[in-house]
Amino acid sequence: MNYSVSFPSGTVQYYTAGSFATLHEIVDTDDCIVLTDNHIATIYHSLLAPYRTIVIPAGEDHKTAETISYITDELLKYEAHRHTTLIALGGGMITDIGGYVASIYMRGLHYGFIPTTILGMVDAAIGGKNGINHKLQKNLLGTINQPQFVLYDAGFLQSLPLEEWSNGFAEVIKYACLFDKPLFKELEQHDIDYYRGNQTALNKIIETCADWKNKIVLADERETGARKLLNFGHTTGHAFETLYQLPHGYAVALGMMVACQASIEHCMLDASVPQRLQHLLQAYKLPVQQAIDIPKVMDVLRMDKKRNKSSIDFILLTEIGNAVIKPLSTEEIQSALVSFSHASHS
Ligand code: GLY
Repeated sequence: MNYSVSFPSGTVQYYTAGSFATLHEIVDTDDCIVLTDNHIATIYHSLLAPYRTIVIPAGEDHKTAETISYITDELLKYEAHRHTTLIALGGGMITDIGGYVASIYMRGLHYGFIPTTILGMVDAAIGGKNGINHKLQKNLLGTINQPQFVLYDAGFLQSLPLEEWSNGFAEVIKYACLFDKPLFKELEQHDIDYYRGNQTALNKIIETCADWKNKIVLADERETGARKLLNFGHTTGHAFETLYQLPHGYAVALGMMVACQASIEHCMLDASVPQRLQHLLQAYKLPVQQAIDIPKVMDVLRMDKKRNKSSIDFILLTEIGNAVIKPLSTEEIQSALVSFSHASHS
């Protein structure tokens, strides 16, 4: 089903059962440029052959100002102008950097996303927040500006390594924890292999999660309230990602475990929930334990841009499917990290 969503910063057309082969029906292919990474460019070499492409190295480490400078040089070489459409084909790193460069090049090009990972499909390609990392902080530089379209082509998932499936399912589990108890229960009944072998069930999950993201962003595009809920598992998750070089979804899985510990203490979350979450994360091949250096984690958290004076807005669960935003003091966060750390050693 195709549909559009009108956010304050722009209207996005979603092509949910699309195909890269139908791109010419959406954009003027003579005046578009595809931005992708070296892995995708290699795997899909013949698919991309008719297009002008800009290829950058894969990996979050390359989501930097240097790469923006390279992409800008290439756009200039191709004589990209205000009516050129930039198409970001790839995972979250490509859509983040692609959306950002498209938003600033000549004060804004039209752009579209073709996410090639589950994480991209349920999260990174939706919401309009795009940006790059600074050496001192992830996603420090960025914009909020919606793409013209997001095209879902499930065919790209075939080439995904297992780790990328787990990465995406961390965000799927996040939506289930935050908003959707039936989804949580459905996920509990299956595992990652079930969804890898069942395209229909996978598509349904992706659509459900994309709907949740759209609904929340529609209500609060600039993240002044409800959108903060989407940071469940991400506050400490980002710190783990930075300190232990974990893939994003793995770090979020650990962050959700920490948030569950804090939720027992501050939101009277039933003590059985961390164990259910742990089993669920394990069924989707995500980590649930990590040896952490608490003072170092706290140092990274203090740098976190979500910090508000002496407290940090934390997303906590009151039950599966219901979350609240609660400012926690550094002592309270430290205590949740200690509980997580003890659970990791028991
Ligand atoms: N690009 C991801 C988001 O806006 O949340």
